[in-house]
Amino acid sequence: MLVADKNQREIYKRGKIMIIDDVRANTLLLEKLFTLEGYQNIFVIHDPEQALEVIEQEEPDVLLLDLNMPVISGFDILELLAARNSRLISSVIVITAYQDSEHLHRCLRLGVRDFLTKPFDPVEVVLKVQHVIQENHQRRMQEDQIILIDSLLQRHVFQLEELQQEYVQRMLQAMKQKDNETGRHLLRISNYVFVLARQLGYEESHCHKLKLAGALHDIGKLAIPDRILHKPGRLTPEEFEIMKEHTTKGAELLAGSRNEILLLAERIALTHHEKWDGSGYPQALRGEDIPVEGRITAVCDVFDALTSKRAYKEAWSKEDALAEIRRQSGMHFDPAVVQAFCEVYEGILEIRETWID
Ligand code: C2E
Ligand code: SIN
Ligand code: SIN
Ligand code: FE
Ligand code: FE
Repeated sequence: MLVADKNQREIYKRGKIMIIDDVRANTLLLEKLFTLEGYQNIFVIHDPEQALEVIEQEEPDVLLLDLNMPVISGFDILELLAARNSRLISSVIVITAYQDSEHLHRCLRLGVRDFLTKPFDPVEVVLKVQHVIQENHQRRMQEDQIILIDSLLQRHVFQLEELQQEYVQRMLQAMKQKDNETGRHLLRISNYVFVLARQLGYEESHCHKLKLAGALHDIGKLAIPDRILHKPGRLTPEEFEIMKEHTTKGAELLAGSRNEILLLAERIALTHHEKWDGSGYPQALRGEDIPVEGRITAVCDVFDALTSKRAYKEAWSKEDALAEIRRQSGMHFDPAVVQAFCEVYEGILEIRETWID
């Protein structure tokens, strides 16, 4: 072997060499040369008509290809490989007696790797073959690495998504234990938010994030004392002031995350009681100063609250609730969101029927 390094030698020895030449004297010579050098994977093809099939089957690391053969020439094989966009063409070392540049240019244009001219110089042959094997080996290792990194990344993303959902589920579980609001109420709000956001033209993946985030809008009620949260009658003004803090407490609970769903949830928790005309809380934001996810959730939340029985009120009919939503357009609610809500009203009712209390 012309190389001293033991690992390198192992790589070379296992390299798959294919020799395509109709002249037996040539193939014998090359085969003997490679065998003496310790190569263990040598394929010889004398009949060029078989060549393409065997090449594609064996996928050699190096393809020594004679240009001048009867019936099907080396050029024909190169052109067939090129027509199939085969990357094997970059493993081809052309064997030729031609020295003229026209032939060489044609081969190079087709994408071959290198040339050997007859008569062979054994050292040149072995060095060029080693070079191609080495490069292919490196390319394969890189490809393997990319595939590995890619699959690790995909698993990572998948785990993150699972974690997000689990995190949201656990917080909702905590809310169900604390609040009278049922899982069905949260499911309804979630799904209302989803169809409404989709109607407003947001991408499906964003709507899914809003759907999860919307379910957390009242997470701050965890911080409200039970005597207020579960009071059977109307709240006193003082009690309502404390009740209002569920917005800021919720936002505090969710604050500081870099996770997009939790960021959305934080904004929704903080702003779902803001009103379009500026009369809402906690910041009395007005119009488009209110984040759109807050404006969307507000309509969904109120529609669901109106059509549900509460400790402090009876349930409204769906007609009365819709009329109230419409009436509040431009006052409590963003008119664009109300319009979209009316457009998907049938879908809203279906969701309501699916998760009725
Ligand atoms: P919630 O019951 O989920 O109601 C959400 C929002 O829907 C309310 O926000 C309000 O904008 C609207 N809403 C609910 N019921 C009615 C209604 O009968 N009429 C009208 N016009 N709108 C209604 P709001 O007012 O900021 O209240 C936030 C949360 O505070 C409520 O969530 C509820 O948990 C609690 N709350 C509000 N008022 C009372 C009350 O008088 N007694 C009790 N026990 N809790 C109250
Ligand atoms: C949107 O940007 O598509 C929502 C419209 C709005 O409520 O401002
Ligand atoms: C509201 O109407 O603003 C809150 C709900 C209620 O007072 O019953
Ligand atoms: Fe709320
Ligand atoms: Fe709510």
